[in-house]
Amino acid sequence: MITFLALSLTIIVTGGNSLALSENACILPRAGMPTNMSMLIGENGKVYPQNEDNGDIILPLGSIITVSCAPATNLLQNYNVNEIEVECRGEAGLMVIPSLVPTSFDQLGCSNRIKEDVVEIETCYKGSSNVSIQFDSATERLPLITVCHNRTAGNTLYSHHTLYGGSGKVPETSNKRPSFKKDNFYGKVSPDTSYSQSNQIDIVTSLVGSAPLANQYIDPSQSFYFARGHLSPDGDFIYVAEQNATYYFINVIPQWQSINNGNWKAMEMAVRDLASQRGSSLEIYTGGYSTLALKDKDDKPVEIYLARDPITNELMIPVPKLTWKIVHDPKQKTATVIVMVNNPHELSITSKDIICKDVCDQIKWVTWDRGNVRKGYTYCCTLSTFNKQVPYAPKISGVKLLV
Ligand SMILES: *[C@@H]1O[C@H](CO)[C@@H](O)[C@H](O)[C@H]1NC(C)=O
Ligand SMILES: *[C@@H]1O[C@H](CO)[C@@H](O)[C@H](O)[C@H]1NC(C)=O
Ligand SMILES: *[C@@H]1O[C@H](CO)[C@@H](O)[C@H](O)[C@H]1NC(C)=O
Ligand SMILES: *[C@@H]1O[C@H](CO)[C@@H](O)[C@H](O)[C@H]1NC(C)=O
Repeated sequence: MITFLALSLTIIVTGGNSLALSENACILPRAGMPTNMSMLIGENGKVYPQNEDNGDIILPLGSIITVSCAPATNLLQNYNVNEIEVECRGEAGLMVIPSLVPTSFDQLGCSNRIKEDVVEIETCYKGSSNVSIQFDSATERLPLITVCHNRTAGNTLYSHHTLYGGSGKVPETSNKRPSFKKDNFYGKVSPDTSYSQSNQIDIVTSLVGSAPLANQYIDPSQSFYFARGHLSPDGDFIYVAEQNATYYFINVIPQWQSINNGNWKAMEMAVRDLASQRGSSLEIYTGGYSTLALKDKDDKPVEIYLARDPITNELMIPVPKLTWKIVHDPKQKTATVIVMVNNPHELSITSKDIICKDVCDQIKWVTWDRGNVRKGYTYCCTLSTFNKQVPYAPKISGVKLLV
């Protein structure tokens, strides 16, 4: 189904010259979205819904998009090929090129749900590699999330994704979430087992040397246990296929549930609101810093991990001491880092928890209960002060604080 948008004739007068613009466009209505939505790729990458109120995609007259399915073996339902090119011919609607056969949005589905690949691409920091979770068709490569991951430690230093403004209010929804995938990471360790509450009690008992103490730390009745804390959150993505592709263990870190479901969640929602208010895309980097230490039975701090490599006996899957998110608006050249202390048991926050000067007072969109340790004690930093402490975090020069 295609509807036509005939915008009124606009006369723009500039310096004595009058320029008449007659605009037409093709609207791809959310209601006409095909089953097994394909990837629509324009000149600047993936085409997302532009109408924030109803999720419609608007293609200008004359624009050509590539419609493709991932992986390359996934063919378009109605065309029996992996990808086609389609042009918006204004009132004549969408046409497949070069044959110029008319088509419509609901005919552009894939014969299977599109599915991501996980590809290791390059070194991102000492001993760690950038791993891309991406959608690949025969000719297109659409990265969704990049994580900088340390295989030896089973630890992701940070993730990166783009949060599209203007379309966040109308995500596609699904009532089923996939289970987390290990892919070919973590060696012989099962991250699934490592994150289980019974394993958390066992390993914390062995690290702090006391079962009663471990049961005080890991107390699910108070939401004190380690959740699979998404780095790039499913809620930042529009399509269910993208949301599903966030369910990898390399895209999570152990985060206390009271924080994950507390201030961290409030912060993620505030960032989405920000993208939607500005109508512009934000570049988002999310990671952990240092390792959480809890007091053992002799009152000495010990670092907490969720797993042990059965071959080397080395501890793996460290619990981060701090978690952070860099929010970068490339258009306005601004960025802010939000830092959260990942320890609901910290009775009072000390200077050791604060790695860069708190500037939250200047930031209007930080409205959650940020002094609440149980829900996640929060502070804010400029990117340059944060970069001095966290050497692997991305550096972006010439940015002012995003307030
Ligand atoms: C959508 O994909 C599923 C599997 O991924 C497939 O079983 C189903 O037939 C597809 N639907 C259509 C209309 O092609
Ligand atoms: C790794 O990925 C991040 C996020 O996309 C990027 O900023 C960084 O430049 C990459 N590292 C290298 C060495 O290319
Ligand atoms: C990767 O993990 C190993 C083992 O825990 C550690 O020695 C190394 O410093 C880590 N590298 C980074 C960049 O964190
Ligand atoms: C997303 O994952 C759920 C749960 O596994 C599955 O039911 C659904 O079909 C998936 N959808 C897509 C588009 O990948």
